[in-house]
Amino acid sequence: MEKYRWKAAVVTLSDKGAAGEREDLSGPAICEMITESRYEVVKTVLLPDEFEEIKKCLCKLCDEEKVDIIFTTGGTGLAPRDCTPEATLAVADRNVPGIAEAMRLASLRITPRAMLSRAASVVRGRTLIINLPGSPKAVRENLEAVLPTLDHGLAILTERDGECAR
Ligand code: MTE
Repeated sequence: MEKYRWKAAVVTLSDKGAAGEREDLSGPAICEMITESRYEVVKTVLLPDEFEEIKKCLCKLCDEEKVDIIFTTGGTGLAPRDCTPEATLAVADRNVPGIAEAMRLASLRITPRAMLSRAASVVRGRTLIINLPGSPKAVRENLEAVLPTLDHGLAILTERDGECAR
């Protein structure tokens, strides 16, 4: 049972979405799922697949808005412009590879294409940043795999809970 309410930001990375050529359905899918799990979405952002812009946005959300968690969606694949994991790792203080590994492991049971996601999961300051793939279906499947465990990680990261319960 989750104890806390976390401040979350949702960042969609999509050239077409940012140009108004495609409706962003993945950002709203994340918002819907995490709101049910007692997260409060304080910011949603839609950006093109631009390395510097993504880095700047992530830094602002962590350092100024001080959100507890950022979920990104899109730009994790092999398309030449996909750069979400690179931007995420560039702003990271610490890598938290297990979250991305758990998402790929669970997703591989659903589709072999899960191996094509290069999603990263990291910490910057007191903020956890998690990359999700770009489709609403992939968002739901990946989030389902990790959402129940994030509460505990966030409680430790933000020092609301001191110890790892076993
Ligand atoms: N993971 C799950 N659970 N379900 C999916 O449908 N799609 C995959 C993968 N991960 C998928 C998934 C596909 S087809 C790609 S190309 C990669 O995520 C990267 O997606 P992105 O480029 O939209 O970020």
